[in-house]
Amino acid sequence: MTREKKVTITIDNRKVEAKANVTILQAARENSIDIPSLCALEHLPSYGACRLCVVEVDGIRGFPTSCTTPVEDGMVIRTDTAEVRTLRQEVLKLLLSEHPASCLFCEEQTDCKNFQGTIRKVGVTTGCRYCPNDDMCELQEITKKVGLTETSYPVYYRNFAVEKEDPFYDRDYNLCLLCGRCVRVCNDIRLNGTLSFKQRGKLTTIGPAFGRTHLEAGCEFCGACVAVCPTGALSAKTSKWAGKPDEIVESTCPYCPVGCTLDLKVKGGEVVDVSADYDSPTEHGLICVKGRFAIPEYILSPDRLAAPTILKPEGYDLLPWEKALDEAAAKLKTAGPKGSFIVVSPQLSNEDLFVAQRFAREALGTEAILSPVIFDLGSDLRSFVDLAVLSEPVDTIDTAAGILTVGLDTTYGFTPVGIAAKKAAKRGAILVTISADECNLDILSEEVIQSDPAKWPDFMEGIMKSMSGNGTRKKAPPSLFKKGDRNVLVIGPDAIFSGKRREIFENALTMRDSLGWKVILCHPYTNLMGMLAMGVFPGLKPGGMRSDGGLKLKDPAAVIDLKHNWKVGYFIGEVPTPQMPKCDYLIYENALPAPSGTDPDLILPASLFTEVSGTTISCEGKILAFNKASAPFADSKPDWWIMSSIAARIRKGALKYASVAAIQSEIKKSVPGFSGKDRRVPRKKVVMDGKAAVARNPHGAGRVMAPLEAFRGVPLHDHVAGMKAIEERRRK
Ligand code: SF4
Ligand code: SF4
Ligand code: SF4
Ligand code: SF4
Ligand code: FES
Repeated sequence: MTREKKVTITIDNRKVEAKANVTILQAARENSIDIPSLCALEHLPSYGACRLCVVEVDGIRGFPTSCTTPVEDGMVIRTDTAEVRTLRQEVLKLLLSEHPASCLFCEEQTDCKNFQGTIRKVGVTTGCRYCPNDDMCELQEITKKVGLTETSYPVYYRNFAVEKEDPFYDRDYNLCLLCGRCVRVCNDIRLNGTLSFKQRGKLTTIGPAFGRTHLEAGCEFCGACVAVCPTGALSAKTSKWAGKPDEIVESTCPYCPVGCTLDLKVKGGEVVDVSADYDSPTEHGLICVKGRFAIPEYILSPDRLAAPTILKPEGYDLLPWEKALDEAAAKLKTAGPKGSFIVVSPQLSNEDLFVAQRFAREALGTEAILSPVIFDLGSDLRSFVDLAVLSEPVDTIDTAAGILTVGLDTTYGFTPVGIAAKKAAKRGAILVTISADECNLDILSEEVIQSDPAKWPDFMEGIMKSMSGNGTRKKAPPSLFKKGDRNVLVIGPDAIFSGKRREIFENALTMRDSLGWKVILCHPYTNLMGMLAMGVFPGLKPGGMRSDGGLKLKDPAAVIDLKHNWKVGYFIGEVPTPQMPKCDYLIYENALPAPSGTDPDLILPASLFTEVSGTTISCEGKILAFNKASAPFADSKPDWWIMSSIAARIRKGALKYASVAAIQSEIKKSVPGFSGKDRRVPRKKVVMDGKAAVARNPHGAGRVMAPLEAFRGVPLHDHVAGMKAIEERRRK
């Protein structure tokens, strides 16, 4: 192991050690010496725009900016001399000469708070104390730090119109300091390139080139620019007036199996905003629009189911919980083991999934434990699950020599995968994209193959043949991927939901098992690993992943008669779809209403992942936590509580759970990896008795829209305004 080179420098008469390749600002920070700075930010390349971080260095003329000056051995630095302090104040005055300063210098600001309900000195867009960033503003902090109490320059108000036409966040460039953080995070960290500086002089602003909207310019709406903005110039639409959060709760995104870490911002007992965690080892804060912006509006939707209701001839009637549970239990009991089935969402927590399978097996006495995974994948279930279970971690891409993507666009989902592929391409890895339309990775691809999905398996076969030495250049470039190199195949949602997925999966399995490719599967079933670990498939018991011979999945159609005439169907966090079995009586347990045209007989309102603690398992097999951040919505209840309460009415003594912790201690006994330090479930090759015979491919041969932007079966765009705008654009 090579030792990192260090230098010794003196900062403010203190001898300190620093890494040889850092700036003065970084060295000072590492040694807890504070230098005011504005445009510099950890994770972002240095820029040297604001000049607030000036210092004195022996042997260097003038006042160098500490964020751009590298340390050298023996350097003597002074960060807090009278000259440096005066210079910083002058620099800040100039910066503020185009910034509304009421919230910074008004002599009445202490008293002002008492009268804010009625007194307003200036319009909202000019600041005063009505700026969305008030009390959380880096500029306010820096002004204090620099010791500036007034500004001698007249304030020139630039009078830009606030830009509100794009989804998710507004832009008020009257508050912009042109620090360039947003531009750098978009270009250098997200590798997206939506933002740049526009115009010159007093008219300079930030935005996409050529007058395009963010939506038109390919913005991912990841919110990274909003997060790094030190002022109120960029603000999330739904939380801009919420003020400083009371609390931040770390949790996990429930929308896809990547399992990004999220910081939930809680105000007044509600989750009002979300931010990324740049220290997260899985996605390094590179979350997508769904995790960043699609949570508060979904969980606080005005359509949330608030209390149990029952369908009567004259419409829905409210029902107390006790009666609703009695009703559900009576219907299920009368239907008997052969007359009832459950449909479970793959986006439930492990705890809910564990209780669901016990509910079916012990309270109902049935193996009819169904899920959208079974109906969406049809007869391709085994190969899909096999690819999913052994899907490689996202960071496999970091060291890849070649990357092939099939049916993948990471603009609005799986962004950690997309950014890893872009980074790899930038450092010289071969990137080849196969998709039906333009995709966001094309720009860095060596080879872009745009074609009908019907031809995708042929391209994959061409690559395989060329790698084994007997291919032609007809269908794929034979020389791009080299045998023996670390090659990664990423299968995206458009491939999973294409009419040719069987052939694509088979090719992927051959590439993995015979040619040594690493395969990453980007699918929408968040807790598929949890379903397998908890035994939420017909004939698969909890801990089935323990078996040494592989994960033994059974053909659902061999375990249960799916064409049966069912009396009662109990949907737990899922919505009925045309592929699913029909029933005489439908119990619908969810947080948001079923799609129009479905009229459940009994509706049970469920709490969501921000309202009840639990765990989920990422595609890598890591056990991750959902942490409770707010009280359950209205009279909703946790799924596990509803199932346990119904079970106790069907069979005395069945499923007695008082808490999530009680369920977890039971899971630990039967699911390997659920306890202990590493907290990972083992991942096994999948074998299947018989072949899944639900249906060949319910989507036929054509291209279909992947059901990606849905949570618990409910489309995000039905409840999140910005997702609707994205959806409309994608469909154009
Ligand atoms: S950006 Fe900061 S300093 Fe400027 S008006 Fe808003 S809160 Fe005040
Ligand atoms: S939201 Fe993300 S992609 Fe869009 S401009 Fe901001 S940083 Fe760039
Ligand atoms: S919008 Fe914010 S982050 Fe971007 S340049 Fe202006 S002040 Fe800096
Ligand atoms: S990539 Fe997946 S887990 Fe991460 S924020 Fe997006 S939807 Fe959530
Ligand atoms: S922080 Fe150094 S120039 Fe802005």
